[in-house]
Amino acid sequence: MRLAVLKERRAGENRVAATADTVKKLIALGLSVAVEAGAGLNAAISDADFAGAGAEIAPDAASALAGAGILFAVQAPEPEVRALIARGTLLVCTMNTFGDPTLVEALAAAGIDGVAMEMMPRITRAQSMDVLSSQANLAGYRAVIESAGAFARGFPMMMTAAGTVPPARVLVIGAGVAGLQAIATARRLGGIVSGTDVRPAAKEEIKSLGAIYVGVEDDETAKQTGPYAGQMSDAFRAKQAELMAATVAKNDIIICTALVQGRQAPVIVTSEMVAAMRPGSVVVDIAADAGGNCGATVPGELIVTPNGVQILGYRNWPGRIAVASSQLYARNLLTFLTTFWDKEAAAPKLVETDDIIKGVLLTKAGQIVHPNFQPVAVAPAVPSAA
Ligand SMILES: NC(=O)c1ccc[n+]([C@@H]2O[C@H](COP(=O)([O-])OP(=O)(O)OC[C@H]3O[C@@H](n4cnc5c(N)ncnc54)[C@H](O)[C@@H]3O)[C@@H](O)[C@H]2O)c1
Repeated sequence: MRLAVLKERRAGENRVAATADTVKKLIALGLSVAVEAGAGLNAAISDADFAGAGAEIAPDAASALAGAGILFAVQAPEPEVRALIARGTLLVCTMNTFGDPTLVEALAAAGIDGVAMEMMPRITRAQSMDVLSSQANLAGYRAVIESAGAFARGFPMMMTAAGTVPPARVLVIGAGVAGLQAIATARRLGGIVSGTDVRPAAKEEIKSLGAIYVGVEDDETAKQTGPYAGQMSDAFRAKQAELMAATVAKNDIIICTALVQGRQAPVIVTSEMVAAMRPGSVVVDIAADAGGNCGATVPGELIVTPNGVQILGYRNWPGRIAVASSQLYARNLLTFLTTFWDKEAAAPKLVETDDIIKGVLLTKAGQIVHPNFQPVAVAPAVPSAA
C-alpha cells in the first residue's frame, strides 16, 4: 500500500506530516511512501532526507497521490487537492470542522475515509496520538519566546554596576497544556510569573511550577472537574473581569491560552484592560485561531495599540516552531497508524467499536459515521387540518 505526504498549502502552515524518521518506520510496516517535492522544506527536512529514508519524491501532489491508499496531512487538503484523492483513500490529518462546516459532507461525498486527529479522545491509551497536546505544548513555549523578543526590557532581573533592570511580570491565562508550558518557560527565563484558570486542578499545577495562582474560586469553578473547561456564566465572567482588570495592569506580558472546546475562545482581557497597561507591554494571544482571549486581538496580525502595547495575534502557533512540531505531529500520526495496522493484510484496520476510532473517524465508505456530524433529521410536514 502506498502512503502519500503532500506539501501543506494553507497560508502560514510550515509543518509537514512525516519526517525522515517516521518515513523509515512507515516503510518498515510494509508501506511505500511518496513525498511531494519540497514538502519538508519549511520544517528543515530536505527532499534528500526523505529520499535517504526510502521515500519516493514525487514532483507534484497528483503524482504523489497516484495509487495512494493513505494520505497523511497536517491540515485537511483544500478542494483542489481533494479532487485528486481517489475514493477509498484514508485521510489522516486535523480537520477544521468548525471553520469549514461543509468539510465532513465533502469528504463523504468524495468517498474519502477521514480521520480527525484533533478529536482524539483524552484517554491514557491515546496520549501518544494526542496532537492537541503535542502541538499546544510547543505553542506555549513559542509564545513566551516571541513575547521575550517583542519585550524591549528582558525577563530576568539584572543587577549591574549601572543599575538594576527589574524582572518581567508575566501573566498566563489558561493553564492547560500550552499554558503550563508557557509558565515553565517564562519561569526559566527569569520572569515573575502568575497563572489563572477556571479548573480547580490547574491551581496546584500552576503553583507546582513555582508560579503565583490568581483566580476566582466559587461554586461554578468547583464544578470544572473535567479535563476541559465549560463555558462560564455571565456572573462568573463579571467577577473574573474585576480580578483581571487589577491583575493585567500589574503585568508586563500576558500570554493568552484559554480555550473552551467547540466554542469561541472566552474574552478575558478586554480592550479597556489593554488601554490600562504600561507602554512596551506585550500580549501574546495564542487563542487567536478561536477568536482570541484579548478583545483587542486582530487574528493573524501583530498590532500596536495607541498606548504602545504590542498584541501578537498570529494564527497557527505550532507552525511557528515547525521543526519540533512536525517531529511530534509526525510521531502522533505514525503511532495512530501503527496502532491500527493489520500486519497480515498489510493495511489499516479501523475497528469501529474501538473508543479511539469512535472518536476520530468522521467518514467511511461514502457515509458520515461520526455521531457529532449526523445530518439533523427534519420532521415530516404535518398536513394542515384545513
Ligand atoms: N490524555 C489525557 O488524559 C489528557 C491529555 C491532554 C490534556 N489533558 C488535561 O486536560 C487539561 C486541559 O487541556 P488543554 O490544554 O488541551 O485545554 P484547552 O486547550 O481546551 O484549554 C486551555 C485552558 O484554558 C482554560 N480555560 C478555559 N476557559 C477559561 C476561562 N474562562 N478562564 C481561564 N481559563 C480558562 C482551561 O481550563 C484549560 O486549562 C490539561 O491540563 C490536562 O490536565 C488530559
